[in-house]
Amino acid sequence: MYYSNFLLLHSYFRWVAIIALIYQMIWIYLGHRNQKPFTKSDQGILIILCMIFNIQLLLGWMLYLQSPLVAYFFKEIPKSIKLREVRFFGLEHVTMMSISIVWMNICSFQIKKHIDSKKGFSFLWKRYIWIGLFILASIPWSFSPLTSRPNWR
Ligand code: HEM
Repeated sequence: MYYSNFLLLHSYFRWVAIIALIYQMIWIYLGHRNQKPFTKSDQGILIILCMIFNIQLLLGWMLYLQSPLVAYFFKEIPKSIKLREVRFFGLEHVTMMSISIVWMNICSFQIKKHIDSKKGFSFLWKRYIWIGLFILASIPWSFSPLTSRPNWR
């Protein structure tokens, strides 16, 4: 597949990831607030949600390896580090998104210790609040003052 296909896929799949993120944050918050025990089927939901982000991570890395913007970033780092859009996609977006999604995967493993415990959702909430903020802040929204991209291609 070519760069433009990955760009389109990554661009559209962002909406799946954003909907999954909103659902996930509300679900975890309500479980935390109501001190709901974290069950085995909740773990299944968490893993499915995590898979959605892993797909976006994979698409992102395929895009990263082919992007002319990223290639330019590595060709002239001292110059390109000063260019907002090139730095954003060459460095900031990849770092923040990769850390967030790896952290999600770690949480999905660690949650095993909290199955059937009332601490499970609170454990997740304390971590996902940061993960959610990192992801939302690192999306090139059409209205973002940092780097903006169209909402639909
Ligand atoms: C939840 C995770 C992610 C979301 C929601 C997301 C979202 C986006 C969006 C909305 C764009 C702009 C697409 C467009 O121009 O239409 C973009 C571009 C890009 N993303 Fe991500 N992304 C995520 C994770 C990643 C990861 C982990 C990487 C890994 C390297 C990555 C690499 C890139 C690159 C290289 C571009 C720009 C490519 C170019 O214009 O040449 N993304 N991303």
